[in-house]
Amino acid sequence: MQQRIPPGFIQDLLARADIVEVVGQHVELKKTGSNYKGLCPFHGEKTPSFTVSAGKQFYHCFGCGVHGTAIGFLMDYAGMGFVDAVKDLAGRYGLTVPEPDLDPQQLRQLQQQRSLHATLVDALQAADNFYQHRLRHSERAKNYLIARGLQGQVAKRFGLGYAPDDWQPLAGAFANYNADALVQSGLVVARDAQGDTLEPQAESFADVQRRYDRLRDRITFPIRNLRGEVIGFGGRIIDQGEPKYLNSPETVVFHKGEELYGLFEARAAISRAGYALVVEGYMDVVALAQFGVEHAVATLGTACTVQQLQKLFRHTGQVVFSFDGDAAGRRAARRAMENALPLLSDTRVVKFLFLPSEHDPDSYVREKGAEAFEREIGRAQPLSEFLFASLFDGVAMATAEGRAQAIHDAGPLFSQIAAPALLGQLLTDFARQLGMPTAELREVLRLSAPARKPVAAAETFGRQPHRSEPRRSGGRHALRTFAAPPDLLRMMLPLLLSQPALWWEIGPAQHALLSQEPSDLQPFVMALESILEDQPGISAAALWETLRDAGHAPEAVLALSPDPLEVDDSTAKQDLFAMLLRLERTGLLRRQDALVAGGLVEDADRAEYRGLALRLREIDQALRAPQTAQW
Ligand code: UTP
Ligand code: MN
Repeated sequence: MQQRIPPGFIQDLLARADIVEVVGQHVELKKTGSNYKGLCPFHGEKTPSFTVSAGKQFYHCFGCGVHGTAIGFLMDYAGMGFVDAVKDLAGRYGLTVPEPDLDPQQLRQLQQQRSLHATLVDALQAADNFYQHRLRHSERAKNYLIARGLQGQVAKRFGLGYAPDDWQPLAGAFANYNADALVQSGLVVARDAQGDTLEPQAESFADVQRRYDRLRDRITFPIRNLRGEVIGFGGRIIDQGEPKYLNSPETVVFHKGEELYGLFEARAAISRAGYALVVEGYMDVVALAQFGVEHAVATLGTACTVQQLQKLFRHTGQVVFSFDGDAAGRRAARRAMENALPLLSDTRVVKFLFLPSEHDPDSYVREKGAEAFEREIGRAQPLSEFLFASLFDGVAMATAEGRAQAIHDAGPLFSQIAAPALLGQLLTDFARQLGMPTAELREVLRLSAPARKPVAAAETFGRQPHRSEPRRSGGRHALRTFAAPPDLLRMMLPLLLSQPALWWEIGPAQHALLSQEPSDLQPFVMALESILEDQPGISAAALWETLRDAGHAPEAVLALSPDPLEVDDSTAKQDLFAMLLRLERTGLLRRQDALVAGGLVEDADRAEYRGLALRLREIDQALRAPQTAQW
């Protein structure tokens, strides 16, 4: 199977990424000896058996048996597909995944997209520099920010600027004010002969009659993507006026529903705090940061979308929404809740905080301070509570009609929850409040009992089955009627996966032993061999993920055999050699069998038989010796 990621990239990526950092963003880890330990996020436990090895770049839970690399963790924990997990991890470490083989036309398209992206981002950055520079020279803008209590340091951290009060201030920042890039990036508005605004995506601006800056006489808030590139702006009017905020339009680099204001700046603080705070406004993010609450991000004038939440869940398992206490805040909260339902897992937490109706986070933290604000966060409503509160809102639960209404409204909400334990708890709670048995409620809502997760295909393979589950049978070759050792190949592969360098310590004859052993694992062995030959210095973690990319996810193939963190490194080499001897022995016995079956009539057959017997004796001696011979 064609690999989706170019060879070598996974190795480079995993060499740069740190699994302790990646896992540490979601699981509290403590150093114990050379490893890190924490509570397993994949099964409920009270004493930590979840181990992360910085040396091996693997995690492993001695409680439930899950294991994997940083990439595997993102797949299992954040529910990403393999390619997305690789891209996500690469993005965190400033790497770009090279594209696999493309046909010339696709390649040209890709290069055009990249070059347009670079052009637009350059233009936006130039505008950002210009706006920031102009803020330093505008008493009017500075006075506005000072009046709002903003410190220069924080304004600088968020790159606040000022778009001067004129039609074409950016003409002073660009050599060619008529360049298409200025419109395509949303910085400049162009109108055609009819006076209609041209969309930034428009291809031809030939008919342009008039151009002017989108942001004029406004405070500018640069919006950055996770790579730190400026992709758009928010602009607040100074003092009063309509509209209060003007934002960049959708462009090829700016997608409102996917970006979060302040996420680039807040990343480290989110992982320190253990949760992300989602607020409604630019000024809320900036003010909170000034008061030391640095883990806040804002949606861009819309309700929090599924994509935005997904993005946040890549950085933390807990999201707290802060909404104004008014009706609009409740509506926004309800939308956010609905969008969160499909993303919930049994280990993710979503909470809702409603501030007193006269406040937003900015005004609250200024009036009462950060500690009071954090106390409010501590009192935030869990999603379940908010869900019930909104189901029962305005419904007379004392009447049969009211309860029926609540059940009716609950259906579409509950059916979106995929987290089995959480759904079970919610149903139990709900049934109790309705005074009916849970099973009956399930029936009425037509929610089937939580389905067992189907065994996933290699691409999306998540956790491996629990170790106490019975070993899967079938699909294996019955090797021989006599003493064939139990699936030697399956026992040897973890050793090679754990220490790929061992491959180079065994000779060609032994490589052949591995690749000629009749087994359903042969496709896996062939993939392993070709990767090792292509990338001799590959690390264990990179080998693991490269195999996955080639369509041979090790978890799927090796289910229930030891994973790399369970392999005893000090004896791996010796164990491998011993197993190779036993593998050779099996092959020799098989060959002897065939010769016997042929009647041993030819001299050559008899000579071969004796030769095999001799080698078998050597092997048996070597296997009895305390230290297995070197090759
Ligand atoms: P708010 O009206 O609550 O403003 O809008 P705010 O954030 O408290 O702003 P200040 O404190 O008065 O400066 C919340 C968010 O909604 C979007 C902006 O993203 C804003 O931060 N919004 C609001 C707009 O996009 N356009 C508007 O005209 C108003
Ligand atoms: Mn405000």
